[in-house]
Amino acid sequence: MKNIVVLVSGGGTNLQALIDAQASGIIKGGKISCVISSKEGAFALERAKKADIPTVVIPRKEYADSKAYSEAILAELNRQQADLVVLAGFMTILDECVTRAYPYRIINVHPALIPSFCGEGFYGLKVHEKALEYGVKVSGATIHFVNEKADAGAIILQGTVNVENDDTAETLQRRIMENVEWKLLPKAVSLFCQDRIFIRDGKAYVAEK
Ligand code: GAR
Repeated sequence: MKNIVVLVSGGGTNLQALIDAQASGIIKGGKISCVISSKEGAFALERAKKADIPTVVIPRKEYADSKAYSEAILAELNRQQADLVVLAGFMTILDECVTRAYPYRIINVHPALIPSFCGEGFYGLKVHEKALEYGVKVSGATIHFVNEKADAGAIILQGTVNVENDDTAETLQRRIMENVEWKLLPKAVSLFCQDRIFIRDGKAYVAEK
């Protein structure tokens, strides 16, 4: 069984999707052993507690910079003996001390079709605001490995939704979450835990059964 540690910052609907997937047996070969939050009071913590998953809060605001914060996160991941780290709405970019220690072992969900609308400053609702501002007709979400560059690691899975004429950032976000994020994140986690994701020339592929 692989030890899955989930990092969160907010509402935690993606964490909930992972908890539900675990309860219904969709996640094979792994178990969520701990949830780490960058914010005190994040609703994601309530979701974890309800599912009897241990929680740790490492508040971003208590650390001077990203490096100091990342070192604290790394120490906790090591303490938890994480096999897989999942960033599920985690709103802090991790320094390379973490990404180097866990190569191809950190998975992120990004609410756009990478390489569009991604990188520093693109997170949460802002991503959808930018997509609507541009006028794209299709958007979606990307599940990818995390490396030292923001949203630039190998893509594991992507899924799309249509953009409607009267969409707001909120309606588009919700459609992408429901149709893509909440399905593909648990799927990618399960594939990882079954050793079904392989890397060739820096790109990720899913092995057929
Ligand atoms: C999700 O849409 C996730 O893709 C996005 O924030 C939301 C968090 O929701 N993540 C990012 O923008 C990371 N760059 P949740 O807390 O309900 O899972």
